[in-house]
Amino acid sequence: MNMNIAFFDAKPYDIPSFDRYGKENKITFKYFETKLNEDTVNLAEGFDGICSFVNDTVNAHVIDRMYEMGIRILALRCAGFNNVDMNHAYGKIHVLRVPAYSPYAVAEHTMALLLTSIRRIHKAYIRTRDYNFSLAGMTGFDLHGKTIGVIGTGRIGRVFIDICRGFGMHILAYDKYPAKQLLCDPSVHYVSLQELFQNSDIISLHCPLTEETYHIIDEHALRQCKRGVVIINTSRGALVDAEALLAAIKSRTVGAACLDVYEEESDLFFEDNSGHILNDDVLARLISMPNVIVTSHQAFLTEEALSNIAETTVRNIVEFSETGHCENELCIHCGTPEDSKQPQNV
Ligand code: NAI
Repeated sequence: MNMNIAFFDAKPYDIPSFDRYGKENKITFKYFETKLNEDTVNLAEGFDGICSFVNDTVNAHVIDRMYEMGIRILALRCAGFNNVDMNHAYGKIHVLRVPAYSPYAVAEHTMALLLTSIRRIHKAYIRTRDYNFSLAGMTGFDLHGKTIGVIGTGRIGRVFIDICRGFGMHILAYDKYPAKQLLCDPSVHYVSLQELFQNSDIISLHCPLTEETYHIIDEHALRQCKRGVVIINTSRGALVDAEALLAAIKSRTVGAACLDVYEEESDLFFEDNSGHILNDDVLARLISMPNVIVTSHQAFLTEEALSNIAETTVRNIVEFSETGHCENELCIHCGTPEDSKQPQNV
């Protein structure tokens, strides 16, 4: 069956793999650079489905318009669905997603950020390009023997724990639903959030954004942390209260921060804003700090992940259109698949 899918928030790096898997499966993607929202949903008129990403807005209005236009498939090319009004979607459109594409991509980027930060690679890169070979201010610290606190021990958190183990780090973990694989692992200690905050030299977030985890790193949490703690967030911006983080950096409570995500990222990340004046003072101030590294939601961006995302998205669309079912359909009222009970993000 030939199908036409409206693909929103398209970037040049998306196109080769989606064209390849689409062609193999008689699916034609029409790439729209614009994000999906109330103003742009009409572009999908006449299409069989919509493919969207993390910063597209799938609210009640968008869902109702999709329904009116006869579109029943929303194929998310990501794991998270916190940008979709799932309650409103129920009974109107089918939401398919890519539950996992490369936990290694995100976990490896997390370690790349950490090493860059604590070994001052970002500074060294700039210095040596200017033939400045001074080592002043470049002193880092060993990861070996340090304690890492991992919040969220799902697919990505577990890969990151494996990497940290390789560095000889002590591992504390917190998860609302601890992983069976880790419960009997003597090198990983599940502790309360408070214990994790109090004892970790580095804290890395790998849990989804939910009502419970919103601002899990806030002023109260930061007050409990060790002085000089390194905070890493490659999960979802709103897990961290950015203003509280900035205050803690200014007061030297937080030693460094590595952020691949930011609470107000949706209008900024993935776009070239270099010719514009940044209106977000908190982000501007964070970026100006010598001990803060910001990447623009790029942890997922590896060739392997892009290929897996395209392959699974296309397979989801084919499976649903041929059988009316899809193992990766999200349904908050049916309780399947298992982790759709826990709203996630990217
Ligand atoms: P996952 O579903 O495999 O693991 C999430 C873990 O968080 C689970 O073990 C779950 O029990 C735990 N969790 C749920 N509620 C919790 C709570 N209240 N407190 C503590 N832990 C809780 O998800 P996966 O694949 O490991 O992804 C983790 C996060 O990584 C995603 O939610 C997403 O936000 C982020 N991500 C970021 C990407 C990027 O490019 N920066 C790309 C892909 C994912």
